Amino acid sequence: MLDSTQRIANILNTYRNEIMAKSPKSLAVWQKNRTVMPAGVGSLFRLADPFPMVIKRAQGGRVWDADDNEYLDFMLGFSVMILGNAPEEVEVAIRQALPNGTHYGQCHEHEYEFARLFCDMVPGVEKVTFCNSGTEATMYALRLARATTGRPLVAKFEGGYHGTHDLLAVSFGRPGSQANNCGPIDDPIAIPESPGLAEMAWKDTIILPYNHPAAFDIILRHADRLAGIIIEPVQGAAGTIPADRDFLAELRRITLEIGALLIFDEVITGFRLAPGGAQEYFGIIPDVSTYGKVAGGGFPFGAVGGTAEAMHLMEYDTEPSSILMAGTFNGGPLVTAAGAAVLQRLSREPQLFSRLNTMGDRFRAEINQFIQNEDYPALAVGAGSMFWMHATRGPVKSVRDARRGDRFASPGLRLLYRKNGLHIPPNHGFMCAAHTDEDITRLIEIHKSAMEELRSQGVW
Ligand SMILES: Cc1ncc(COP(=O)(O)O)c(C=O)c1O
Repeated sequence: MLDSTQRIANILNTYRNEIMAKSPKSLAVWQKNRTVMPAGVGSLFRLADPFPMVIKRAQGGRVWDADDNEYLDFMLGFSVMILGNAPEEVEVAIRQALPNGTHYGQCHEHEYEFARLFCDMVPGVEKVTFCNSGTEATMYALRLARATTGRPLVAKFEGGYHGTHDLLAVSFGRPGSQANNCGPIDDPIAIPESPGLAEMAWKDTIILPYNHPAAFDIILRHADRLAGIIIEPVQGAAGTIPADRDFLAELRRITLEIGALLIFDEVITGFRLAPGGAQEYFGIIPDVSTYGKVAGGGFPFGAVGGTAEAMHLMEYDTEPSSILMAGTFNGGPLVTAAGAAVLQRLSREPQLFSRLNTMGDRFRAEINQFIQNEDYPALAVGAGSMFWMHATRGPVKSVRDARRGDRFASPGLRLLYRKNGLHIPPNHGFMCAAHTDEDITRLIEIHKSAMEELRSQGVW
């Protein structure tokens, strides 16, 4: 007689076997990768249960794996492809740019227009500078805050993911890390998310509870030494958790009061929630914002933007104490062309945002109605076109709430999404302009049928 844990493990294994049976070529590609690449992946976050997706082609709102299985794409390269995969305007822009060379490492004529779009679209951006990833952008933003204030400490929120550098690779909740040793909610302790981080870097990072008033007590405790506070206005990787608007408003007030820079990490929310990103969506303007993803049009990209005052220590030629910021590939001709093509379309068609946000609202409303009618311990959350369904009753206001998700239902749901043709990252899904209402209907149906399947199997 099997105990219930073993019985449930067996059921999840049948889903894994079905996924592997429909994608043997993909599995073989990954296994071959393993022989020459650690874990067979170029990024930790490509690992998946039961094995990484191996993509052969991406078009519109869909991707195809190496076995030609078609998936509805709600990963979109981790939120990047807001116009859908392989958008025509990006292809045209790249074709135009290519004959002039792929890389100069120098200024060129097309940077102005790209930077101008940032300044025109984002309320808090008067000047912007480019780098090559969101990780670099948040690193520079913190350096700017320290240099501007002459103070040593920075603060981030528990659950906030800002990339992999040593200052911020702490307390974001790396998959598989221990949830039980994070300290009390009103005074979280810093958990380094990797061996090998420089202790002198992350130990100067204060951890604040997200959406929790104790954050303000901690800020006041460190007020004299705090250079800046970085926040994802909607935490993505932690489980698509929006900040409460009042919480952001108080954060704005208190950072002004203590003279620390408020940094919005808009790497996901930028050009996704609204033309002006989360700062427009919530109506709260930070000093500095960081970008990546959507704005790079599918190329490696990062950016730091802010008020002219906040950015003045990047005026390298006129400011004797300007910060070190440099990069061989910063703002190259291809990423500039691709990014400008995307931002031009988004600024020309702001109605795209209401459509995207309506699709996200529809997902949340229909799923939560179903959850309520059928009494599932689940909750659909998110903001605009960022969405996720947690296997817990909620409320979900922090990564600690998100982690309360059912031990078997959460992995079971993810396996069923994949088995049934959804390509979606763990903890945060994204919609794009190429998704149709029928695609959203299918997304909702797959969620409902996955819940029903787990209940009928006694997994949930
Ligand atoms: C909010 C946020 N900030 C920063 C980053 C790091 O960006 P990148 O992966 O381009 O280094 C990410 C990546 O997912 C992110 O979601």
